[in-house]
Formats: sequence, structure tokens, C-alpha cells
Amino acid sequence: MVNPVEMEQQNDLAEGPLFSPSLQAIPVPGIRRMINASAGMSDVLHLSIGQPDFPTPTHIVDAYVDALRSGQTGYTLDAGLPELLTALKDYYSERYDRQLTEDNFLVTTGATEAMYLALTATAAPGRQFIVTDPAFALYAPLIRMNGGEVKIVPTRAENGHQVDPQEIIDAIGMRTFAIVLNSPNNPTGTVYSRETMEAIVQEAAYRNIYVFADEVYDHLILDDMEFPGVISCTTDLDHVMSISSFSKTYSMAGLRIGWIISSQGAIKKLRRYHMFTTTVANTPAQWAGVAALQGGNECIDDMVAEYRRRRDRVVELIDEAPYLSSYWPQGAFYVFPSLPPHTDASKLALRMLEETGVCVIPGDAFGESCSNAIRISYSNSMDKIEQAFERMIPWLKEQKLGPR
Ligand SMILES: Cc1ncc(COP(=O)(O)O)c(C=O)c1O
Repeated sequence: MVNPVEMEQQNDLAEGPLFSPSLQAIPVPGIRRMINASAGMSDVLHLSIGQPDFPTPTHIVDAYVDALRSGQTGYTLDAGLPELLTALKDYYSERYDRQLTEDNFLVTTGATEAMYLALTATAAPGRQFIVTDPAFALYAPLIRMNGGEVKIVPTRAENGHQVDPQEIIDAIGMRTFAIVLNSPNNPTGTVYSRETMEAIVQEAAYRNIYVFADEVYDHLILDDMEFPGVISCTTDLDHVMSISSFSKTYSMAGLRIGWIISSQGAIKKLRRYHMFTTTVANTPAQWAGVAALQGGNECIDDMVAEYRRRRDRVVELIDEAPYLSSYWPQGAFYVFPSLPPHTDASKLALRMLEETGVCVIPGDAFGESCSNAIRISYSNSMDKIEQAFERMIPWLKEQKLGPR
């Protein structure tokens, strides 16, 4: 399964008199073409998956079932289950070595609702949002739906898709209202350095601009480095919102629990908005979240070790594949290799699916600047990954795409 946000967008929704023209901001995705095409095929090997392939750890499943059985099926407080708010507060206060309070948190229905709240509560005509490209498909449509303007800053394969903080700072203009960052990044797997994060966050605060940081992959760091979360890059929280969830870290995507961390003032405002969107997040799933946070990091370490093993092998296999050029992705479970310039990766990916049964996601699903790239997800077993490349490499050798 790819993420539904990546899959479900279609602009025919906006046709006809029924729907608001704002729905036209929601584009036709490259991902849908791939998923539709693979749906009728047998023997497809998916390097397209946008969620963890591990089972949810048992102690988390048990907590969910226990909550159901003990009657935890009503609404919680609008900000979230008090026990989860406290667990989040304790967890992040320790992680970032700073004293947070429960009022710095809002529990949401996944990071998707958190991002929806943050962007649609702030986007408005005359406000410009800087978004890197390639990017997860959610941000630009939510900004545009509410009349906000998107200014794209591309990242480049030759720099391992690192963001150049100076390019972001140079892109800030009179209308700039916020910067959206996503590290570790979907689709590139790139992790931004502390220097990069601090430079952007500090300049933003100085210029009265917000930073919305999508940090859903914050634990999937595959090299020996710390994760420079946005909360650890600033002394006050007035200009930042950190958004994350249990989906990727604990393989809990279907349980739909996420959160926003920000200043108490921003959280108070967003709580009210949240009451008018989803009211509260799923109650037993919030109890499962408490168990996740209190259950220790062993289950995460095991998953990260396996992602690391797969990442190392995928990078080797990409090196062996003709036409694909890659870099060293340090996080999440994606890599975004480029094909020769001007290759239409969308057509190529479709043909590769039809002729080899290997499904990858073409770069144009993630923005305008990377139509010659493909996203490879290694959220699949090593065996399946090996099989996929055994099909892809000979197939690529037969193609004529310009310099290898
Ligand atoms: C960068 C990014 N942000 C947010 C999400 C959505 O996360 P959640 O399941 O918590 O809504 C995803 C899922 O694919 C993602 O890749």
C-alpha cells in the first residue's frame, strides 16, 4: 500500500457545480497511475510502498485491544487523551532536554490531520509558503486550497537532495509567511543537518516567519547521527510547529495517531479548529500510543537495523543498475535516484511495471523539478528487493536513455 494521500488525489472531484473550486488545487497524482496499472497484474514486486512493512509491536496491539475491552471507546479531551499528552510531554522533554508542558501538544488523526490543521489554519491569500521540491504530496495542495501561494525551492540529486539553507533564506521575500520542511524526507530519504535546521529556524524567527516541520520519520535515522528536530533548534516555540506521528516509527499507520508540538498559544487556537474537523483522535489508538512511548525503544531499534541493512543493499544495487545515479540516503525508507536528464521517468516507470512487474513511483508524483527521478521504497523484504533488482537491472540494460 502507498499512502492514501499519495494515491487518492484526483482533480475530477472539482468538476461540476457541486464542489468548491478550491478542490482544483488537488492534483492528479503520478502514484495513482502506477497503482491502478499494477492493480490488475499478478506477480508485482512493490518498491512503491509508503508505510512500514513490519507488524505493529505486540505490546502496542495489546494496549489497543485492552483499551477496547475496558470500555475506552468514548471521546477524549479535545487536545488528546490526558495520559498520552503527559507521555508525549515526558518523552519530548527528555529527548530535547527542555521543559515542555501538555499545553504544547495537540493529538490528531495522524500527521496528515496535523499538517491539514497547521497549513489550512494559516494559508491565506497574500501569504507565501516556501516548499522544497521534491516533496510529500500533501503540502502544496493544502496551501493552495486556502488561497496561499507556494514558492518552490528545488533540492538536487548531486547534493544528495540536501537543502541549502542559504537558498531558503534567499527565497524569503515580502510575502513569505512560512517554510515547510520535511526531514527525514519523503521521497528522498535525506536528513537535514543541525546546521541547516538551525540556520533556517533562526533566520525564520528573526524575520517573523513560521517553520512547519514534518518529522514523521524522526526515528528512522539510519546512520550514527542525532536527529536535529526543529524543537531542538530554537529557544522559544513561537515560530515553529513540529508534526509527527506513530505511523512510521512504530508501524502504526492504520491506527492514525499524530500530534503537533508548538507554543501554547498556537496549540490553543488549533485545538478549537481540531474540534471542528475530527473532534478527537481515536481513543483506543491513543492508549496504544501511550504503550508505544512507554514501551522502550527496542522495537524501533530492530526496525531501524533492518531498514539500514536494506538501505545499504539498495544503494549497492542502484550502483550496479545502468542509468540510475544515487546518493547516500540517511533516513526514512526511501531513495530517489535520477535517470539521465530529460528522461520521462513517468513513462519509463509505467513501461517497467508492464514489462518486469516492478513498481516504483515516478518523480513527478513529488513535484515539478524531478521528472527524471524515481522513488524506490525499501519497505519490503530483502528477498523481494533482490528479486526486483534482478528484473530491473537487465531490463534497464536494454533501454536506450542516453549516457549510462
Ligand atoms: C512525509 C510524510 N508526512 C506525513 C505522512 C502521513 O503520516 P500519518 O500516517 O501520520 O498521517 C506521510 C506518510 O506517508 C509522509 O511520508
